[in-house]
Amino acid sequence: MHEKLFTPGPTEVRTELLQELSTAQIHHRTEEFSDVYDDIQPRLKKLLFTDNPVFLFTSSSTGAMESAVTNGVKKKSLTVSNGAFSERWHKITRKNGVPADILNQDWGKPVTPEMVDEKLATGEYDAVTMVFNETSTGMMNPVKEVGKVVNSYDDTMFLVDAVSGMAGAKIKVDDWGIDMCLAGVQKAFGLPSGLAVASVSERLLERAEDVEPRSYYFNLPLLHKYHKRSQTRTTPAIPQILALRKQLKYIVDEEGIENRFARHDRLSGIVQNWAKQYFDIFPEEGYWSKTLTCVENTRGISVADLNQELIEKHNMRIANGYGDMSEETFRISNMADLSEPDVRGLLATINDILGL
Ligand SMILES: Cc1ncc(COP(=O)(O)O)c(C=O)c1O
Repeated sequence: MHEKLFTPGPTEVRTELLQELSTAQIHHRTEEFSDVYDDIQPRLKKLLFTDNPVFLFTSSSTGAMESAVTNGVKKKSLTVSNGAFSERWHKITRKNGVPADILNQDWGKPVTPEMVDEKLATGEYDAVTMVFNETSTGMMNPVKEVGKVVNSYDDTMFLVDAVSGMAGAKIKVDDWGIDMCLAGVQKAFGLPSGLAVASVSERLLERAEDVEPRSYYFNLPLLHKYHKRSQTRTTPAIPQILALRKQLKYIVDEEGIENRFARHDRLSGIVQNWAKQYFDIFPEEGYWSKTLTCVENTRGISVADLNQELIEKHNMRIANGYGDMSEETFRISNMADLSEPDVRGLLATINDILGL
């Protein structure tokens, strides 16, 4: 029996998208493939409010994160960090031999534009990495405000992990001055895992021409060369790309992006009202995510037991807290194509189990 996923990735995938994965294979050096590619591009640009090309990576989001820091940093990168995934981006940067410093804030608290400004004023950095939606803490960082600061410094790349926010919350890539905005499709896109997308600015492509190439697979100028032919550099995950086309047509042409963002806003509000009534919410108020809620376990329930009962008796799965917070918090996602009855049904079931 299928478990309905209320986890912050992978998320629930609609049956018609699963069916799209099993359609006949097409060759990636054909006009037919380029037509698919050309169907995807304008919709991704619309979704991200950008004129920049949006590259497709046959990898999870981590591949696109590696690409960002291996192509985008000449001097040193500043990792803005307040959660597990920004800490991980710092490790990725360093592991790739790219110089980087970390600007640490407590988990669940925002890194302010002023903090970033103070670091950039040293003149040591030519790139900043930041996570838009911290999946580990359920908070949305002030990317727009930090982007203003980053853009006030010459030739400083702004590289944003929007993994668990893209396609669920509005991200205005060009207005916010984001040079690379990346995500995996297994989160708010509502597609199976294995493909990542990233918008890439012209000045980042110029920077990449100047940086000693650290990767072939994730080399942005090479990806760009093939992008201009409406193709990918290497054999891509073709079934995934077909499913992405179908889902983008649904998101942009049928549901509408503003409606999609409003639905995520509404559903996260329902979970957050519930969490406030019975528990508490982990991150600072004002920064709560619109795609997932990190509930603070103020009642001291067994999160593991709750999830086990949800899975075994109700075919629903939520996520425990991240890492050391596995029992102190738990996370409920409202990402992708979930409906209000889905979310209300989950919360009513939790209430039944806990006797709330
Ligand atoms: C914010 C964020 N960044 C990066 C990642 C890593 O993504 P992937 O597993 O697709 O490589 C995740 C995965 O959960 C995430 O939530």
